[in-house]
Amino acid sequence: MAEQGFTPPTSEWYHPSADMVEGANVPDYEAVYNLALQDPEAFWANRAETLEWYKRWDRVLDDSRKPFYKWFVGGKTNMALNALDRHVTTWRRNKLAIIWEGEDGEKVTLSYWRLWQEVNKFANVLRGMGVAKGDRVTIYMGRVPEIAIAMLACAKIGAPHSVVYGGFSEQALASRIEDAQSKVLIACDGAWLRGKIVPLKDMVDEAVQRSPVVETVIVVKRTGHDIHMEPGRDFWYHDLMALPIAKTEAETEVMDAEDPLFILYTSGTTGKPKGVLHTHGGYQVHPPPTLAWVFDLKEEDRWWCAADPGWITGHSYIVYAPLILGATSIIYEGAPTYPNPDRWWRIVADYGVTILYTAPTAIRGLMRFGEAWPNRHDLSSLRLLGSVGEPINPEAWRWYHRVIGKEACPIIDTWWQTETGGFMITPLPSVGLKPGSATRPFPGIQVDIVDDDGNPVATNEDGNLVIKSPWPSMIRTVYGDDDRFISQYWEKYKNQGWYLAGDTARRDEDGYLWVIGRNDDVLKVSGYRLGTAEVESGLVSHSAVAESAVIGIPDELRGNAIHAYCILVAGLEGSDALEAELKAHVRHEVGPIAVPAQIEFVENLPKTRSGKIMRRVLKAQALGQPLGDLSTLED
Ligand code: WTA
Repeated sequence: MAEQGFTPPTSEWYHPSADMVEGANVPDYEAVYNLALQDPEAFWANRAETLEWYKRWDRVLDDSRKPFYKWFVGGKTNMALNALDRHVTTWRRNKLAIIWEGEDGEKVTLSYWRLWQEVNKFANVLRGMGVAKGDRVTIYMGRVPEIAIAMLACAKIGAPHSVVYGGFSEQALASRIEDAQSKVLIACDGAWLRGKIVPLKDMVDEAVQRSPVVETVIVVKRTGHDIHMEPGRDFWYHDLMALPIAKTEAETEVMDAEDPLFILYTSGTTGKPKGVLHTHGGYQVHPPPTLAWVFDLKEEDRWWCAADPGWITGHSYIVYAPLILGATSIIYEGAPTYPNPDRWWRIVADYGVTILYTAPTAIRGLMRFGEAWPNRHDLSSLRLLGSVGEPINPEAWRWYHRVIGKEACPIIDTWWQTETGGFMITPLPSVGLKPGSATRPFPGIQVDIVDDDGNPVATNEDGNLVIKSPWPSMIRTVYGDDDRFISQYWEKYKNQGWYLAGDTARRDEDGYLWVIGRNDDVLKVSGYRLGTAEVESGLVSHSAVAESAVIGIPDELRGNAIHAYCILVAGLEGSDALEAELKAHVRHEVGPIAVPAQIEFVENLPKTRSGKIMRRVLKAQALGQPLGDLSTLED
């Protein structure tokens, strides 16, 4: 069951200009792809050679315990060594690493030297508080420079971070803290969004009450509003950073290539979110070349990935890959439309952004306000534009291309996942484009589209997207749950040893790949990844709801909108007031991104005889489509 309406392959082609191809870091996709295919291990080893290692690896790939692949076995390194330490001994120490703009107009710039010092100071603070190699640290912040500092400081001391997106609320935060067993939580007092304060610290207080494993909370002052500070538990970041212990030099922990760098929770088909585990060695090898080759990143570029650091896009393409490459990365705190719908375009013009990377939902959202807003600004610095998170509809693609890129910037549609760590299917600047297609696999990556038995499907037929060979930044496991790692990704094609992506896709007559949408119980709403189970458990945690089922319905702006069905406890009746109350409840429990667009009160739900809710049937019914095979339906 694909979530999104399928866009048929078009014959509409956009070819890159000769200048773009000739000047590109990788001018010939075909040649590099074929070369990598001949010897993928040598290909990735070559990429790894461009980084620093305390000790070189003995083996590129160990596949003796499939699917628990190991990369760069025996190698010693640290993400912070490559993202920071190695730059400050070169001229890059004076280059800007981060340019930050707050929603309220405040500005901060950090050179590589300054960032390195701040990270060292905070690494010393964390060590001083007893955080040691291997300890998990949860980070729950807005989009402020300190989130990058916190992540890098954790990397530096070898403490895996678990960043929880600031748009999640207390229950979501509490369960992620609980799963990671973090004793230390780094947070903000609040965040600015649309001119209002998001009270992050209030949610922290509630979450910590639910997850008493947290012993220490470090609070970055951003909004400065009144908050509760628990004596002995809560400390201001700026107070700690002023202590003598916060020296500007800190030892970088020597990490094994396979030691965990971070856990990032994401939604799966069932139950609670899974902690996707990434490692220092493999994860530092894959995202950087994808950024350098796909977005043709050059030393002088100004790169703006407008995602949130709390999602994988922010981890890989705001923080780690740009810093490894020594790039200048822009971070903007707030809403794209605040105070006016041209905020983004003003940022592009003000900072001379050369590459912009965002999600289709943001483009659709800005499109609504018309061309006059972008046309008011000089966008001529832009060279390339990117898209991620969900299929981009051709209308949004064309608008992005024509109005923002002035028909001179390729639209780079990148398909990948939290689990893949970096881009997997994506054009390079030399590849011809078709609106809505992520085009071809990145060099070193082998993908296919197959039926349930593993046979390749015919041209333009729907099938399951699989990845046929391992890659360095692949998920290592689901944190604390190896069984789930296997059942979720490897069980289906265990004979073939392929990774199941969970997406439906097609390949057209030109070999171009079209990712249509999820084929499991994962929803993509405004590009955010959510599990139906998360929204459902948010609903049933309200005393009025006995049972619920959630589906995604195609939505022009958000890609999908959440529709919920609720069976109320006996004796209660649905009403507009109750619907509003349930929405507020989900907002409070899970977060604003999980609030259903609509809640329907029903008497029963279609279930299989084994009691599984058939969301497919609900969806077909909601869309007025044929209900399909109902032989397993109980009633
Ligand atoms: C979807 C986000 C179509 C897909 C980086 C995938 C896309 C899920 C694209 C992963 C794209 C991401 N075209 N669909 N260019 N990029 N997706 O883990 O369904 O938040 O499985 O990672 O987003 O979402 P995640």
